[in-house]
Amino acid sequence: MAASNNECLDLMHRLMAYRHEPIHSELMKIRDKYSMLHLDVLILIYHFAKLCSGAILEIGAFVGGATIAAALGIRDSGKQKKLIAVEPGGSVKHKRLGTRNILRDLERNLARERVLNMVTLVKGKSFKPETMSAVRYALGSQPVGLLVLDADGAKRRDIDSYRDTFSDGCWMVIDDIYGVDANEKITPSRADVDALVAEGLLEPLGFYGWSTWVGRWRGSARDEATTE
Ligand SMILES: C[S@@+](CC[C@H](N)C(=O)[O-])C[C@H]1O[C@@H](n2cnc3c(N)ncnc32)[C@H](O)[C@@H]1O
Repeated sequence: MAASNNECLDLMHRLMAYRHEPIHSELMKIRDKYSMLHLDVLILIYHFAKLCSGAILEIGAFVGGATIAAALGIRDSGKQKKLIAVEPGGSVKHKRLGTRNILRDLERNLARERVLNMVTLVKGKSFKPETMSAVRYALGSQPVGLLVLDADGAKRRDIDSYRDTFSDGCWMVIDDIYGVDANEKITPSRADVDALVAEGLLEPLGFYGWSTWVGRWRGSARDEATTE
């Protein structure tokens, strides 16, 4: 518990430190143009992408805000890391970010921010067998060191679909955990995350922005024990 308290404090401290660095205004522009997430969450995605070992898997890329934050983290790590973004496409009504064609705008935004060549885009729903095999093919033998999960309300479904690819301690950023009104996304998302924490599979490290849970995957040891 003491170790995870230190990690919580370290994250808060990092966030404060980033506010005094040029990346803060870079990510502020990315958020305004392309993301529904809070700036603090984009900063943490950037931070985890910079620090993690292994690949980055994003489920629910929308028009690319979090994808671009992760790509900038890879850029600033000076290392080669795989970044896989899963998005089925469609249209969305939204005051600031509404679009008639998510995939067209996603590809355009990644190109505009010069990160398109860093991203493997898997077009499809996370739980479809063809999507799961495309993600596994893109990963090869690399484990996932950061998961960004911001699709629908079925968090457990997506975690169960990819849990065999997570490294022990994989950073996890999961959205839709809080809101003033319980809705069709928040209620099941929160129930899933609370259950995974109670089972010892997820270690919580904090709540950020408007609605985002941050923590680490602790299920690898158990998965290994059950396959032996
Ligand atoms: C709230 S948006 C993501 C916002 C994004 N993280 C950002 O930075 O603004 C949710 C996205 O998840 C996608 N989505 C919904 N269900 C999905 C699924 N099963 N697999 C992958 N993506 C999904 C939607 O098409 C939508 O683009």
